[in-house]
Amino acid sequence: MCGIVGYVGGQNAAPLLVEALGRLEHRGYDSAGVAVVGSRTRVTKRAGRVRDLAEVLPKRMSGQVGIGHTRWATHGPATDLNAHPHTDASGAVAVVHNGIVDNAAALRARLTDQGVVLASDTDSEVFAHLVARSTADSLEGKVVDALDAVEGTYGLAVVHADFPDRVVVARNGSPLLVGVGDKEMFVASDLAALVRHTTTVAHLADGELATVTASGFTTFRRDLTRTQTEAREVDVDPSAYEHGLVDGRPRMYTEMLEQPASVERALRGRLDERFATAHLGGLEMDARELRAVRRVKILGCGSAYYVGQMGASLIEELARVPADAEPASEFRYRSPVIEPDTLYVAVSQSGETIDTLLAVEEIRRKGGRVIGLVNVVGSAIARACDGGIYLHAGPEIAVASTKALTTMFVGFALLALQLGRVRDLSVADGRRLVAGLQNLPAQIEQVLSTEDRIAQVATALAEAESLFFVGRVRGFPVAREGAQKFKEISYRHAEAYQMSELKHGPLALISPEVPTVAVVPDDELTDRNVAALHEIAARGGPLVVVTHAGVDLGELQAERIDVPRNERELDPLLLTVPMQLLAFHAALALGHDVDKPRNLAKSVTVE
Ligand code: AGP
Repeated sequence: MCGIVGYVGGQNAAPLLVEALGRLEHRGYDSAGVAVVGSRTRVTKRAGRVRDLAEVLPKRMSGQVGIGHTRWATHGPATDLNAHPHTDASGAVAVVHNGIVDNAAALRARLTDQGVVLASDTDSEVFAHLVARSTADSLEGKVVDALDAVEGTYGLAVVHADFPDRVVVARNGSPLLVGVGDKEMFVASDLAALVRHTTTVAHLADGELATVTASGFTTFRRDLTRTQTEAREVDVDPSAYEHGLVDGRPRMYTEMLEQPASVERALRGRLDERFATAHLGGLEMDARELRAVRRVKILGCGSAYYVGQMGASLIEELARVPADAEPASEFRYRSPVIEPDTLYVAVSQSGETIDTLLAVEEIRRKGGRVIGLVNVVGSAIARACDGGIYLHAGPEIAVASTKALTTMFVGFALLALQLGRVRDLSVADGRRLVAGLQNLPAQIEQVLSTEDRIAQVATALAEAESLFFVGRVRGFPVAREGAQKFKEISYRHAEAYQMSELKHGPLALISPEVPTVAVVPDDELTDRNVAALHEIAARGGPLVVVTHAGVDLGELQAERIDVPRNERELDPLLLTVPMQLLAFHAALALGHDVDKPRNLAKSVTVE
């Protein structure tokens, strides 16, 4: 949440910083700003998008050292004054901050008592005043003094007119990277802002600071002792980070279309046809350890949690090991019992979601074993886990997650298969699933090819103020994910319910104005599901049924979307793809900015 960039080198910093901020905008997009150090520190900041900032950037804002920020508001609304960078009263110091200052109220009161006039409502502004008031001789010393006063999390970048050759950065719980160029250096909270300039990157560790000048960087701890963090070449394709509309379509669209390829990547080298199993080397668990697992507990947030529910079903069905999923954001606060023979699985696209990261740390602190299903290589969650499975979805930029979620499902299917095959899952069933997994990329392609029909249905759904998404057992997390996606980008009220529970209350809400999107796979529950659909139709509720060809809906008046058949256990993935397209086309019909939905940001790095 929020994006930080910084530059020190021979180029004019301001336009370069603004361009880099555009690449981080998915992390927060309610206001943006830059500060440049020359003979003095100059700041331009605005509520609104990075393009609004670009429009007001003064031509004369020259200087070769600077910092920038794009914000997702935590303390105080999105206004010009609350935008970062924040400055001290003299205007010499400018800071940009990601994270939360827990003792901001006390620090703001103390500074006010000392005669400081605070310009914003933010927690972050205190850093600027604390740095300015420090009596240390160096900028590094001043920043350390400020950090000593602060409780909370931060990714921080600071410039100071008295030290015009450098940016000092610090990290505690919020990512910060230093990029190495040719006689120029970069700072960013996300690789996406750097790859256009360099792929030689150093990740700061929590508790670490760095001084960045045009000729290089040095890292150190809060006691000013040096650390040895080095820059390394990262293996990424810079073009995969290009943002914005591709062929006139939003990024979410291209990410949905990438799913056949990303699912194929997630499977590559991991299926063993001979022994009808999966090989997940990154788990770092041998067959004996896998057999000793008595329970699986999956933790994730938002859509990652819903895919976690799909994963729990897969594991129970294939491995016959009790499994469940829980929102990571709740887990830590109920003082969970950590069992030695439970395998904990943290699932996250970004690898940064703070609630998931804190859940991982809680489990490890209590001696539990936790593996990660993570997309971003080297991210905080990936590093905090005992082992894991990288998703290989490639960079996901749109706030609404699509291709990462389908690779998460594949990750769970592989884990379930491997766990199953060291237990009682037969060779025949193993073969069945290996073949099913191999068929997925082509079948996703097939679903995507029905886009025009789904778009028509979505345009009609977009007119409703309120909708139900329903399903049972394997279909229920699909309904939850469908409702989540719909809410997130169409801003319509979409409620997910178990089909079996409707008549225990919510059926009262069914009317011609409230459509229901029903997930009805061809499985052991089809007849019961179809009976429930009749109960909805009898009350005048319009129906969209996402199902398999051949499922007999009888006389039911319904819009029907068919997906290809695979093995039943793998149905949720193929049923999820139409949900993405429904949400996407409804949002498009409503004229919304699909990639940057209101109030949200891509990575949730604050509690
Ligand atoms: C998905 O569309 C959402 N934007 C959101 O629920 C997301 O899945 C959640 O915040 C978890 O993110 P993560 O996978 O990066 O941990």
